[in-house]
Amino acid sequence: CGIVGYIGTQAATDILLAGLEKLEYRGYDSAGIATIWEGEVNCVRAKGKLHNLRSKLEQIESPAQIGIGHTRWATHGKPEEYNAHPHLDTAKRVAVVQNGIIENYRELREELKGKGHQFLSETDTEVIPHLIAEFLKNLSPSSSSSPFLEAIRQAVNHLKGAFAIAVISADFPDELIVVRQQAPLVIGFGQGELFCASDTPAIVAYTRAVLPLENGEIARLTPLGVEIYDFAGDRLKKQPRLLNFNPALVEKQGFKHFMLKEIHEQPGVVRASLDAYFNNFGESSESPINLGLPADLYNNLEQIQIVACGTSWHAALIGKYLIEQLAGISTQVHYASEYRYAPSPVTANTLIIGVTQSGETADTLAALAMEKERRQGKEPQYQGQLLGITNRSESSLGDMVPNIISTLAGIEIGVAATKTFTAQLMAFYALALDLAARRQTVSKDTLEKIINGLRQIPKEIEATLETQERLTEQLAHEFAETKDFIFVGRGINFPIALEGALKLKEISYIHAEGYPAGEMKHGPIALLDAKVPVVAIAIPGSVYEKVISNAQEAKARDSRLIGVTPVNDGEAAEIFNDLLPVSDVEELLSPILTVVPLQLLAYHIAARRGLDVDQPRNLAKSVTVE
Ligand code: G6P
Repeated sequence: CGIVGYIGTQAATDILLAGLEKLEYRGYDSAGIATIWEGEVNCVRAKGKLHNLRSKLEQIESPAQIGIGHTRWATHGKPEEYNAHPHLDTAKRVAVVQNGIIENYRELREELKGKGHQFLSETDTEVIPHLIAEFLKNLSPSSSSSPFLEAIRQAVNHLKGAFAIAVISADFPDELIVVRQQAPLVIGFGQGELFCASDTPAIVAYTRAVLPLENGEIARLTPLGVEIYDFAGDRLKKQPRLLNFNPALVEKQGFKHFMLKEIHEQPGVVRASLDAYFNNFGESSESPINLGLPADLYNNLEQIQIVACGTSWHAALIGKYLIEQLAGISTQVHYASEYRYAPSPVTANTLIIGVTQSGETADTLAALAMEKERRQGKEPQYQGQLLGITNRSESSLGDMVPNIISTLAGIEIGVAATKTFTAQLMAFYALALDLAARRQTVSKDTLEKIINGLRQIPKEIEATLETQERLTEQLAHEFAETKDFIFVGRGINFPIALEGALKLKEISYIHAEGYPAGEMKHGPIALLDAKVPVVAIAIPGSVYEKVISNAQEAKARDSRLIGVTPVNDGEAAEIFNDLLPVSDVEELLSPILTVVPLQLLAYHIAARRGLDVDQPRNLAKSVTVE
């Protein structure tokens, strides 16, 4: 979910709507805003995408200069208007928007119902305005200089879970109060106006001076400025900082969809990563890679545990391959949502890596928080280091983990991750090669050869993009109505089969499975017939012949075969019905190229089906609930 807030001298509704538009990637099944004018809370909500709310608001001329807004990704309760935020108390004086989950909402709701509060939604959020109203009722008027702040402070001390909230009240029309507890929230400072939002794109059109709140902080925004407190009510001193932001990244620049634009930005992402991570081998340098990590992070590493979700999990699988094969360190990859409840045994020399492009995925943060907590005790096995790989170093992950590798994709708007995946792969190439150089598990010559190979990748992606646009568009035409797809690969390209299938599922709603090609015969082969196409990633190297034989097995079951293979591969041309050729490249580097035609295939199929490519149903780019 995404939240925004405004207090100032301009029309609040317009600013809130513009902000929500930039936050729609966080969820888009319903939206709403609440403003204050003529002594009342005016709350307008609509089911579905933001334009539904916009049309409703067009009927209303609102002079309000303070308000809050929300775009929702349903957790508790269906995506209906009555569940959309903002939520109000019974007397309709307090309005709240929330991003996160209030874990103890059931108990609170029962308690509040007992005190006469009436509930109108199925959400966890609705307890908050009622709780605030309850505390306001019980405050003696002289007990605090800001009763509104005090009531909210008391209320949040009763909430369990991870949340960010913004609150306004008709009885305190000059106060916008925001709270952060393990869900992101940033304050923006304008000229005589203040903003708040779940993420910076919502406010960057108005100001670059921002202050990200930290966990356990409450901010009171008034025409006089911002005051920040902790949950005990003690005042904190904080300074805003200036944001670096390239506005071109949040515009489509002639592309039909953000996803297509972001696919085309991948050569630039690889170039930026090469420039940032790789130096030349100096005479004395231990490694030609500079990730800015402390030297003791590399000491005596015995094993690595990686936690991630979704596409980041796929990048982590390639990371595992690279680290194990190049640096010889045993590495496991876990779904963050699983690891949290069943962590692996670790040693003092285990490095834990969290991979998340947004830096806000609740499952990944929770898994890392669990590891951090294990480090509070004295047990020696829990003293290994933590490392984060993220595209947003200013995120919650950045706050939580001291060591960060920043991936260099720039902001990604399309919900289906593309360029952030490539950027994560680059971070893993750099990390694996850095480890290999320091541990001397590969020779200097091999290292140089790999790095020189990486330097060729940007122009090879460019060439691939050029040929693939047309080919994937043609294939999309034929496969737009296909019901099932199978993607197979082996070795370093097995995760690319998973990623190709995920991209297709996410945006085209076609059932797709990614499989290690050798496993097909142990089950999935039963699914194959002339109606189920098989996409095989076959790159010359350690498993090429094997993938080709697995593809033959599928062909013998009448499947139509699509091959992601090097250009001019005569053998492949004979076997596959259709080819999606990529430049000739070393197997070790091939995933950065082989993923590109699969991204384009998914894109063109979804676009041909007339689907909402950038905001597919039921998904959100950054899932900030567990
Ligand atoms: C969501 C997105 C996916 C993404 C996953 C992990 O499910 O829709 O595209 O891969 O979250 O996100 P993260 O920000 O942690 O990489």
